[in-house]
Amino acid sequence: MTRIAILGATGYTAVELIKLLLRHPEADLVAATSRQEGNPPIAMVHPSLHRRIDLNLEDLTPQEVASRAECVFSCLPHGASASVIPHLLDAGCRVIDFSADYRLSDPQVFAQWYGEKHHDPDRLGKVVYGLPELFREQILGARLVANPGCYPTSAILALAPLLKSGLIEPEGIIVDSKSGVSGAGRTLKLTTHYPECNESISAYNVGRHRHTPEIDQILGSVAGTKVEVVFTPHLVPMDRGILTTAYSRPARQVTEEEVLQALRDFYAEEPFVRVIDHLPGTKDTMGTNFCDVTARLVRGRVITISCLDNLVKGASGAAVQNFNLIYGYPETTAL
Ligand SMILES: NC(=O)c1ccc[n+]([C@@H]2O[C@H](COP(=O)([O-])OP(=O)(O)OC[C@H]3O[C@@H](n4cnc5c(N)ncnc54)[C@H](OP(=O)(O)O)[C@@H]3O)[C@@H](O)[C@H]2O)c1
Repeated sequence: MTRIAILGATGYTAVELIKLLLRHPEADLVAATSRQEGNPPIAMVHPSLHRRIDLNLEDLTPQEVASRAECVFSCLPHGASASVIPHLLDAGCRVIDFSADYRLSDPQVFAQWYGEKHHDPDRLGKVVYGLPELFREQILGARLVANPGCYPTSAILALAPLLKSGLIEPEGIIVDSKSGVSGAGRTLKLTTHYPECNESISAYNVGRHRHTPEIDQILGSVAGTKVEVVFTPHLVPMDRGILTTAYSRPARQVTEEEVLQALRDFYAEEPFVRVIDHLPGTKDTMGTNFCDVTARLVRGRVITISCLDNLVKGASGAAVQNFNLIYGYPETTAL
């Protein structure tokens, strides 16, 4: 059994994580933090957990967390996460960080895109990016894992095999993504109020979404050369799910079947990536840890289409997959 604490337990990713951990035979949830006053039972904040978990939310210091738990899932926003993680690591905890704090390897790139100095810059570049399909060996036994962003997971899983096999050019890649509203978290924001986003689809943060350097960095490391994607996210009036359509140029003459076969070969042994022939839709992966991927060749462009549940493969499911790898449990446990 592994004693687990969850930081930021009132959020959307946390409730999904708790539901997964409740069915994990080796997970013992011993602490859940929140800044809310009065230490309410966690089921009061997440009614879906009623009669499933007997635990109260507490505003704990990192030292208090470390005295109870050996593994910490940080579901805090960026900035808040990096201000506590060094203390948890010093106290001997292993940490899976949901935020973007440890995903980028360069503190200057972090400052440029996040508009603030990093709290723990010396650690950047030494933290494994928690995408098992690409970095499984480095995740095994890791002390700190940077859980990937939801949009980057959908884009990287679709494009990495094609870049790695040299089937597509690293330049000129366009990534067009649509996300359900839970992607913005439970914390109230004007843009995610019901009348603002219902019955409306809009692009946002065009050219400046913070997942752009993350996609660039990982695809660049796979391609072995600089990659700069044009990434445009859209907010879609649904609860959850991400659909990503990416456009790239073939590096040589290829057939659609060759592109699909490259994806099938790359993911042949992967439990959570399904290379499909039909066109994916977000409902196909809702509530699951799957990412569905397919490809088409249209007018000389390779189009990859991928979808996943932002709260599962895009966050909490990926975190449990990483937890399993860190502790040597079967990778698919609870998933
Ligand atoms: N939503 C997604 O689809 C998704 C996917 C991948 C990654 N992520 C990342 O996962 C993390 C959690 O996302 P989420 O969607 O679960 O967010 P959320 O629903 O907004 O929850 C975040 C929680 O963190 C706590 N919190 C907020 N600001 C804080 C601060 N300054 N200091 C300490 N605690 C603070 C809040 O709890 P209290 O107010 O109760 O203290 C809140 O419930 C974020 O870093 C996000 O970028 C989210």
